[in-house]
Amino acid sequence: MNLAVLASGYGSNLQAIIDAVDKGEIEGHIKVVISDVKDAYALQRARRHGIEAVFIDIKDYSGREAYNEAIAAVLEKRKVELIVLAGYMRLVSPLIINKFRGRIMNIHPSLLPSFPGLEGIKQALDYGVKVSGCTVHLVDEGLDTGPIILQESVPVYDDDTVESLQNRIHKVEHRLYPRAIQLFIQGKLSIEGRKCFRNEG
Ligand code: GRF
Repeated sequence: MNLAVLASGYGSNLQAIIDAVDKGEIEGHIKVVISDVKDAYALQRARRHGIEAVFIDIKDYSGREAYNEAIAAVLEKRKVELIVLAGYMRLVSPLIINKFRGRIMNIHPSLLPSFPGLEGIKQALDYGVKVSGCTVHLVDEGLDTGPIILQESVPVYDDDTVESLQNRIHKVEHRLYPRAIQLFIQGKLSIEGRKCFRNEG
C-alpha cells in the first residue's frame, strides 16, 4: 500500500513509521513526505531514508483551497492510498477529506475527546488530569473528532512538565501509530458510524 506522511516538525512519529516499514512491521511504502514547513526535520529524515520529501509553501498559493489542491495533486500523482498525519499542524481541507475519505489518519497527544486541538498536552496538565495518553483516529471534517482506532493511556505525575509528559506520550505513540497503520493495511479495521472496530481474527 502506498503511504504519504504529512508532517510539520520534528518527525519522531515519521521516524517510528519509517523504522516499522524497514522492519516489515508495516507492509507499505512511504511514497512521499510532505511538509508545510521548509526546514522541518521530518523532511530531512525522509531524505536520509531515500524517501521523496516535498515542501509545499502555502505562500505560493492564493488560499487554503489552492494549497490543498496542490497537496492533493502530489498525493494523487503518487497513487497514495493512506495519508498519515504525523504532527501536521494544519487542518486538512474538505477537498482532501472527500477525495480520501476513511483513508486519512491522525495521532493526537491526549485521550480524545478530551483536549483536542493545539497544545493537547498542556491542556491536560493545566486541567490537572491524573491520566492522559494518545489517540490514533481517522480524520473527518471536525477538529480531532473522527472515529478512534487505537488509544492508550499514560499516568500523569504531580511534577510533570509539558516536556516530561510529552516524552512519556511519544514513547507510546511510536508503538501505537505503526500498529494502527498496519491494521489498516491488513484490512482489519471496519467503520460503523463513528465507531471503528478491529477484526484481528
Ligand atoms: C505528536 O505528539 C502527535 O501526537 C502530535 O504532534 C506530535 C508530533 O511529534 N499530533 P513528532 O513531530 O512526530 O515528533
